[in-house]
Amino acid sequence: MSKPLRIAIAGLGTVGAGIVKMVQTHGELLARRAGRPLEIVAVSARSKGKDRGVGLSGYAWEDDPVALAKRDDVDLLVEVMGGEDGPAKACVEAALASGKHVVTANKAMLALHGQAMAEQAEAAGVALRFEAAVAGGIPIVKALTEGLAGNSISRVMGVMNGTCNYILTKMDATGESYGDVLKEAQALGYAEADPTVDVGGIDAAHKLSLLAATAFGTRVAFDKVEIEGIERITLQDIHNAADMGYKIKLLGVAQQNEDGLEQRMQPCLVPTASPLGQLEGVSNMVVVEGDFIGQTVYQGPGAGEGPTASAILGDIMDIARGLVIPAFGQPAKGLAQPNISSTGSDAAYYLRFSLTDEAGVLAKLAAILGDHSVSVNRMHQYGHDGKTAPLVIVTHQTPRASLDAALAEISALNASLAEPVALRIESL
Ligand SMILES: NC(=O)c1ccc[n+]([C@@H]2O[C@H](COP(=O)([O-])OP(=O)(O)OC[C@H]3O[C@@H](n4cnc5c(N)ncnc54)[C@H](OP(=O)(O)O)[C@@H]3O)[C@@H](O)[C@H]2O)c1
Repeated sequence: MSKPLRIAIAGLGTVGAGIVKMVQTHGELLARRAGRPLEIVAVSARSKGKDRGVGLSGYAWEDDPVALAKRDDVDLLVEVMGGEDGPAKACVEAALASGKHVVTANKAMLALHGQAMAEQAEAAGVALRFEAAVAGGIPIVKALTEGLAGNSISRVMGVMNGTCNYILTKMDATGESYGDVLKEAQALGYAEADPTVDVGGIDAAHKLSLLAATAFGTRVAFDKVEIEGIERITLQDIHNAADMGYKIKLLGVAQQNEDGLEQRMQPCLVPTASPLGQLEGVSNMVVVEGDFIGQTVYQGPGAGEGPTASAILGDIMDIARGLVIPAFGQPAKGLAQPNISSTGSDAAYYLRFSLTDEAGVLAKLAAILGDHSVSVNRMHQYGHDGKTAPLVIVTHQTPRASLDAALAEISALNASLAEPVALRIESL
């Protein structure tokens, strides 16, 4: 058998401990498949004494992850500490500078520094891989860079944050409020104490920006993702959507329009009967559309020790077998600066208004929508309490700019009691 692939792991939390467990459990299987042993040589974390539920005595310990990355007896660094800058970035850069392969689960870091890191890896002739950073255990990066490499991709979309999907499906199933379900998700460990990065759509947008770069051969443009979280979704929205045959999902969509790349992470309505509509709990789903293949759907666990370790090991195994492909599926220097779509694509929208309950308001609202050529498909008024009249409207296909102009005008009315909610109905 060939010489071992010598691995260093920076970070021994949920993911790092999972990787150690997987290598220890499947050492023989992995060696047989790779044609060489995978050998963990050294590890690093903040606190050396912490019990991590795995035996670490056979591995060297480094307090400093950068020193770990520079060790002479290491071929590959796994970075699973997290954080977009700081020690994670420093140790990845140090590993690449010293000619070591890097496997990371760190979407926040790659969303900001992925282009520079991919260029650094290629200049050094080593691999930079990040399967675990996007949709957890689902091998979606591999699907895009390998299995679907012959296709021109038109759209990539999906549910990429398990916490948000858990909250939305639990609200739907139990009738509990957003706040109550969020608290439960925190108690179960699905949501952080500060949930902003998840419920605000930022974590999922990091992932979408990496998928968009991979699918469309463009530089990662996280700062150009239109982001909206799920904080404003009410139980009433979920029930209204259900009545019309839809589910509400935090949906990421990247697609090539005639005028450029559109990237959005926002709550959308999807048909209940579609695979995305059927997605329950913390699962993730990614849908990829290519010109020769048509539509493909990938579903699986989006986070957790086992699934994330599984994705990391998939990358490590490729490297052990000698497969070094560019991080984003094509040489990094050839990745184009994305031309961002200025208009976005047209869609039908679900609109919810909170209006004063008085004569003439509805006519005013309808007139404003008409002035901006936003045509109404259906309208439903519910739950008058004498003061407010909640109103739901579903539009026909409309350009986003027309809708935004109409909503701005409606918001400015004295009769408008709260910022209107506008959710796109995604056509699948
Ligand atoms: N958890 C998931 O399901 C999941 C899924 C996909 C991607 N990811 C990504 O994977 C990465 C790790 O996530 P995780 O959930 O495993 O995090 P975690 O449980 O918080 O573990 C982080 C680890 O990094 C170590 N660490 C943090 N700062 C350090 C520093 N300055 N120097 C040395 N070690 C340091 C910590 O050491 P101590 O243990 O000593 O404190 C800990 O072992 C993140 O980028 C995350 O976004 C996670």
